[in-house]
Amino acid sequence: MVQGPYKELKIRSYDGEKDRARVEELERGCEIVGPADRVFLFTDTLGDPICRIRNSPSFYMLVAESDNELVGVIQGSIKLVTMARPHGKSGLARVGYILGLRVSPLHRRQGIGSRLVRSLEQWFASNHVEFAYMATDKENKASVKLFVDSLGYVKFRTPAILVNPVSPYRALHLPSHVEIKKLGTKEAELLYRKFMSSAEFFPKDIDNILENRLSLGTWVAYYKGEAWEDIRYDGASTGSEYWRGPRNWAMVSVWNSAEVFKLRVQGRAPLSCWIYTKSCKLMDRFFPCFKIPAIPDFVDPFGFYFMYGVHCEGKSSAQLVRTLCQFVRNMARKSEDCKLVVTEIGARDEVRLDIPQWKCLEDLWCIKALNNQEPSSLHEIAMSPPTRALFVDPREV
Ligand SMILES: CC(C)(COP(=O)(O)OP(=O)(O)OC[C@H]1O[C@@H](n2cnc3c(N)ncnc32)[C@H](O)[C@@H]1OP(=O)(O)O)[C@@H](O)C(=O)NCCC(=O)NCCS
Repeated sequence: MVQGPYKELKIRSYDGEKDRARVEELERGCEIVGPADRVFLFTDTLGDPICRIRNSPSFYMLVAESDNELVGVIQGSIKLVTMARPHGKSGLARVGYILGLRVSPLHRRQGIGSRLVRSLEQWFASNHVEFAYMATDKENKASVKLFVDSLGYVKFRTPAILVNPVSPYRALHLPSHVEIKKLGTKEAELLYRKFMSSAEFFPKDIDNILENRLSLGTWVAYYKGEAWEDIRYDGASTGSEYWRGPRNWAMVSVWNSAEVFKLRVQGRAPLSCWIYTKSCKLMDRFFPCFKIPAIPDFVDPFGFYFMYGVHCEGKSSAQLVRTLCQFVRNMARKSEDCKLVVTEIGARDEVRLDIPQWKCLEDLWCIKALNNQEPSSLHEIAMSPPTRALFVDPREV
């Protein structure tokens, strides 16, 4: 219990039965992006406020209450990931991810956000977390100031969020000389461990992600005429050590975020956005030859597919990455709720250039050392150049 400008501010664990409706109401009233363009983005957690962390190996949610009113909420998850280590090496680190921090608009600038973060950091520390990190929209001044200026986090990475609309009317044409194959989860796991395990933030429990019901599958693309040799998996030896893929290939996995939460746009811009949407749809329906990207309706709440683990090998794999992205957009057309396909890629990841995009938003990741980690180890991580690839965990989107 903390005494402050309130009679009392209580920070406690989330209790589904007692808090579900009130947290949902708070969430509905808190923008997650804005007000840069006077467009506000809100999330709707579809009756399950804990849905965004539920799929993580270890998670916790806290609420802040004042005079029986729920005024703030925060969520966190813990996992083991690949990270830069001193002397240019990389290894596993136990990290805590902070997400879903919301303070009711009427109670802001009274220290509630800071207290929620500190309480979550205590839970991290008691669970041997070495580093806490968070991601925010680069333009979210309140969030950046809170974490960086006030709570001692350092700016760390600036990955790009690439957004593509799902065309409601026509499927995208896929080149006939490209073969697309769906992999089993074991095979996908072996490929990720072989080719992406040195990527920053690669999760040790990649198998849990691939086997999660929200993960719709992993697909590879390669040129016709080349063979795709299946990878053996017999438990003891993975077989991936001996595996040789085609000269050029690409892979992607898809996560159905639309089943976890929906987004809602509100503000001044939606009217112009609505008019643009409608005119694009008309143009697309009657003059498909103009190939205007048909923008879906953002008036109603909408969901998206998240592409994760995008990886390619070979000098001529750019077209394979593009084809996989088109394939995923075609797949998304079949889902009623899904209006966007989104991915997040490290700022320096070369594959970024091959992913078609309609909008690119810059994310900002900030990090802090906990548990009396040597300040030098954080310095080492923050100063280390971003590796070629950054693995963005779909459970944290
Ligand atoms: C970001 C948010 C959680 C901050 O909560 P809060 O309870 O107002 O934060 P605090 O009162 O603890 O602020 C601590 C410090 O952060 C900084 N800060 C917070 N809000 C700020 C703002 N709007 N503008 C500038 N600085 C701000 C200030 O340095 C502040 O200290 P001060 O009030 O003594 O100047 C709240 O604005 C919010 O819910 N925003 C919408 C959702 C969101 O963006 N969440 C973050 C996603 S990561």
